[in-house]
Amino acid sequence: MILVTGGAGFIGANFVLDWLASQGEAVVNLDKLTYAGNLHNLDSLRSDARHVFVQGDIGDRALLDRLLAEHRPRAIVNFAAESHVDRSIHGPEDFIQTNVVGTFRLLEAARQYWQALPATEKGAFRFLHVSTDEVYGTLAPTDPAFTEDHRVEPNSPYSASKAASDHLVRAWHHTYGLPVLTTNCSNNYGPLHFPEKLIPLMIVNALAGKSLPIYGDGMQIRDWLYVRDHCSAIRRVLEAGRLGETYNIGGWNEKPNIEIVNTVCALLDELRPRADGQSYATQITYVTDRPGHDRRYAIDARKIERELGWKPAETFDTGIRKTVQWYLDNPEWVQQVQTGAYRDWVAKQYAGA
Ligand SMILES: NC(=O)c1ccc[n+]([C@@H]2O[C@H](COP(=O)([O-])OP(=O)(O)OC[C@H]3O[C@@H](n4cnc5c(N)ncnc54)[C@H](O)[C@@H]3O)[C@@H](O)[C@H]2O)c1
Repeated sequence: MILVTGGAGFIGANFVLDWLASQGEAVVNLDKLTYAGNLHNLDSLRSDARHVFVQGDIGDRALLDRLLAEHRPRAIVNFAAESHVDRSIHGPEDFIQTNVVGTFRLLEAARQYWQALPATEKGAFRFLHVSTDEVYGTLAPTDPAFTEDHRVEPNSPYSASKAASDHLVRAWHHTYGLPVLTTNCSNNYGPLHFPEKLIPLMIVNALAGKSLPIYGDGMQIRDWLYVRDHCSAIRRVLEAGRLGETYNIGGWNEKPNIEIVNTVCALLDELRPRADGQSYATQITYVTDRPGHDRRYAIDARKIERELGWKPAETFDTGIRKTVQWYLDNPEWVQQVQTGAYRDWVAKQYAGA
């Protein structure tokens, strides 16, 4: 079995669902259930004995030691993180605690566990750390895309904390020999995405008749990857990645934010037209840019394609259509997240636990 951390969040939950749908191997899912963790994401696994959910912190060493001893995973996949750049600007402390100190504790627990494994299990063990393209900093319009050798130049408290965790993972390999893999992925989008991030926020606000706030001139460029493609890339790296290596994961879809928002509006115009016949694009408003906002990220994902034969299955057109349709089909999920009802449910679920 494998231990997944942060598996109630956006990418982690998609990963757990895909993992259990595509193979028989069990998952222990350790998640603190911060505001971003939502057990409803895993509703379909409630009676699936292969999924064991544990509410807890990756910074809790005693809990980590207990889980590792009890479940004896063959791999750890670390998604757990504070992940929202805006929140990191307003309150960086949690980002340092979870992304840096938490990763450190997880590495130390993994090291102790791994060192005591019998030789064959020791040789097969993997620690896969999920990171972001934001660690590389920002690009000028004509710069080549980030390769794995690009300098690490994080610009926000979020990306700095992720870069710090990437360095720790690298050092635990070089110093202690821990069999690690690191992935640096571009912006994800898809089902179960918390509506504080660009794409789900635009869909949800558009349908609610609210304004669609665009930072600055809307010309910040990101590479976008459908979340299930990210999950398949992680599975592939876990299976065949070279130890100690970093793999960039991207969708070959560089687009300015304003184009993303216009695409979302056009899809909604088609799939759920406004009663007054006007386009949702009329709801777009421009707001003051956030401080230190990186202008462009672009991922060169040729290494994972060359070495591991991985390529994304979705184009942006197919992925964004699926995403918009998912939000239209799942209004209860959106409502629970917006009203915070998912948190009450968690409180009830764990009352007296
Ligand atoms: N979303 C993206 O576009 C993107 C792109 C590249 C990489 N990443 C990375 O992928 C990972 C997952 O991102 P996401 O978008 O799913 O984030 P998310 O914020 O949706 O989910 C994070 C999950 O981690 C949990 N968590 C937070 N602190 C924890 C702690 N101390 N202990 C245990 N669990 C904790 C939360 O409860 C939540 O379920 C992160 O490491 C992020 O840096 C995200």
